[in-house]
Amino acid sequence: MRNESLKSDSFPAALNGFVPPTSAATSKHADGTLIDKYGRHVTYIRLSITDRCDFRCTYCMAEEMTFLPRSQVLTLEECLRIARCFVGLGVTKVRVTGGEPLVRPNAVWLMAQIAQLEGLREVVITTNGSQLDRFAQPLLDAGVKRINISLDTLRADRFKEITRIGDLTKVLRGIDAAKAAGFSRIKLNTVMMRGRNDDEFIDLTQYAVDQGIDIAFIEEMPLGEIGHGRQSTYFSSEEALKRLQTRFTLLPSTETTGGPARYWLIPDTQTRVGFISPHSHNFCDSCNRVRITAQGDLYPCLGNNDAINLLPLLRDHPDDDEPLKQAIMHTMGIKAKGHDFTGQMDSPQVIRFMSMTGG
Ligand code: 5AD
Ligand code: SF4
Repeated sequence: MRNESLKSDSFPAALNGFVPPTSAATSKHADGTLIDKYGRHVTYIRLSITDRCDFRCTYCMAEEMTFLPRSQVLTLEECLRIARCFVGLGVTKVRVTGGEPLVRPNAVWLMAQIAQLEGLREVVITTNGSQLDRFAQPLLDAGVKRINISLDTLRADRFKEITRIGDLTKVLRGIDAAKAAGFSRIKLNTVMMRGRNDDEFIDLTQYAVDQGIDIAFIEEMPLGEIGHGRQSTYFSSEEALKRLQTRFTLLPSTETTGGPARYWLIPDTQTRVGFISPHSHNFCDSCNRVRITAQGDLYPCLGNNDAINLLPLLRDHPDDDEPLKQAIMHTMGIKAKGHDFTGQMDSPQVIRFMSMTGG
């Protein structure tokens, strides 16, 4: 599945003299829509606004990370411009991610600006929760209605081990602040790791039930070299579901958020339990999203290395969005049919970390 023909580093020069995407090889879009060559309609972008993070989760980052120099990171105005172009092309949902998006100064300003884009249905955020006690209310005021918060354990010592530097108490305070602010939906994201947090899946679900919020369990993906293998800690959704069923009644839900999660309901509670199963490939067919890194690389598929760098287009054409829109439409033509992580857990073929691409 790996395709190295379009390395982001080598692309800008090629794209500057770029020709419009009307050929069948690129896309079948009508004006104002993004449709890839497999007929999938892209209506959702995930925009990473920083590669930095105040945690160093072991499954996400190497211990020693080198972060991008500021000049290579999109300004918030450039982030907004990208969002505006996508919304102009029919995108209705923007998720702001990182790294940790709330460590970027003025992230809330950006959220408010995106929320006001005409044609947008919702702007949402994925956060590690470390700054939420301060930012929950401002985010809600900015127009953010739903929020995803990463939480892999409820034990302080483990939390420190998994995040290397995080403080569980602060994150739990952040979750309380999000609840108090009154988001319409709060969802916890738990990355499943055998021997590290699998004995807590029931407790984490019970915590979600007690808080009246949702929880999604995520199979770990081989994104970036983290200094240790992932195969030995891999834990499947199927096994997690069985484990939860020993304690909870779970009713399958037909409901979908348009994303990869399959949801189950726990009767008489507010809680939905989701499973995100990138290893069983079950969501590529209906994939509706693309990702933009903090340095402006547009990745049409999380599990492939193909990308187009939008940064030179933004900076070379400060007053003309057309080249940017053309490049975005062109990218529809290189969106891979799917990803395949088989055999990659200990030797990832996708070289960037989740903190680069945005969760
Ligand atoms: N596999 C699966 N999930 C990951 N995340 C970060 N890295 C990985 C990975 N390699 C999760 C974070 C966060 C979400 C955005 O992605 O924990 O919840
Ligand atoms: Fe930061 Fe999220 Fe990566 Fe953890 S998983 S290091 S919180 S970006």
